[in-house]
Amino acid sequence: MTSRTIGIIMNGVSGRMGYRQHLVRSILAIRDQGGVELPDGSRVTVRPLLVGRNEQKLAELAAKHGIEDFTTDLDAALADPQWEIYADFLVTKARASALRKAIAAGKTIYTEKPTAETAEEAFELARLAASAGVRTGVVHDKLYLPGLQKLRRLIDSGFFGRILSVRGEFGYWVFEGDWQPAQRPSWNYRTEDGGGIIVDMFPHWNYVIENLFGPVRSVYAQASVHIPRRWDEQGAPYEATAEDAAYGIFELDGGIVAQINSSWTVRVDRNELVEFQVDGTHGSAVVGLFGCRIQPRNATPKPVWNPDLADDHDYDADWVDVPTNEVFQNGFKQQWEEFLVSHVLDTPYEFDLAAGARGVQLAEAGLRSSREGRKVALEPGGALDSLDSVDSRESLDTLESLDVVES
Ligand SMILES: NC(=O)c1ccc[n+]([C@@H]2O[C@H](COP(=O)([O-])OP(=O)(O)OC[C@H]3O[C@@H](n4cnc5c(N)ncnc54)[C@H](O)[C@@H]3O)[C@@H](O)[C@H]2O)c1
Repeated sequence: MTSRTIGIIMNGVSGRMGYRQHLVRSILAIRDQGGVELPDGSRVTVRPLLVGRNEQKLAELAAKHGIEDFTTDLDAALADPQWEIYADFLVTKARASALRKAIAAGKTIYTEKPTAETAEEAFELARLAASAGVRTGVVHDKLYLPGLQKLRRLIDSGFFGRILSVRGEFGYWVFEGDWQPAQRPSWNYRTEDGGGIIVDMFPHWNYVIENLFGPVRSVYAQASVHIPRRWDEQGAPYEATAEDAAYGIFELDGGIVAQINSSWTVRVDRNELVEFQVDGTHGSAVVGLFGCRIQPRNATPKPVWNPDLADDHDYDADWVDVPTNEVFQNGFKQQWEEFLVSHVLDTPYEFDLAAGARGVQLAEAGLRSSREGRKVALEPGGALDSLDSVDSRESLDTLESLDVVES
């Protein structure tokens, strides 16, 4: 059987996501397994071109992984037809301008989220790509987590009956950087550098919610800078201007309410770093990155509130583990494989720049909700509308900026 090689420009491979998830665990893993099989039995293989600003770093990465091609000249790479796909893992701030160039060059685009810093720009990029006839893909990795794939199966099987609510807890403690180095880049904590947990996580919550439960109709969010001073990669102190925690309530089509806490200032007391509880009329589930436990209505205990008596019922024991009936591979790699197949066969790809823009829109609405202290409605296609009837604070005058809470 024949095989075709797809040249992929990989911009930002020295970064955390670019290196670990996209280069090593996805593209090199696909290369080393001999590519991806198409329905007719032929194979598509990949050839990465590493792009970045530091030639020496690129040369070291290329040598380490047996990669022939690297360059600091993005424009030349975009002008060269042997590279069909432009893939972007840059810091968020640098993304939109690079995507514009790639769209103008007619490349197929695959990118990390958020796709831009504002919803206006994100929707504009989606429109530009559509009118240029350019195929686009945006990372939707959380949907590929084994726990969320098990949840998908539960939903599809009708396990929940009518879904009522979703409660999500995401987060862990990110060290301040003084007495222990921080485990995330310092730009994450500076608004002026594209940081903030809302811009980072709400795009994820948007695609998780819209693909599993239905589109988000409104958001109320509280963004807080709990730790206003952190220390950067060089050990220098800086002011953390971006929120490190966000407490969000999302109303979905059909009346489902999703509440999701996102925090880099929380110590983990759950089985996994992200956990969602879904409650339905016929059953409930708690899912994490890998695990999934369920409780059907037929096995639901009947607690009675009595503050005078210690309750010795073992509530944990009421849940049943959902077995792992299939082999799950790395989610980033699985999505890359699906995108490559869609690129080669020219089939529609659902997780595109328009989907990415809806994620940015939710983040923008969340930030606005927090700033204005009110619920913000989301209009399909980009318009944001505040709901006047639901002011949740007494005075909006004092809410010019994010709340800063000393820890
Ligand atoms: N899908 C996910 O789960 C997930 C997780 C974390 C981060 N992300 C996203 O991935 C992107 C990268 O995040 P990261 O944590 O890997 O960051 P990082 O700081 O580790 O890497 C950023 C990369 O961008 C490059 N870069 C920095 N400034 C630049 C500039 N001005 N011009 C060109 N290149 C520049 C750096 O050299 C590096 O290669 C962000 O948009 C982030 O939101 C996604």
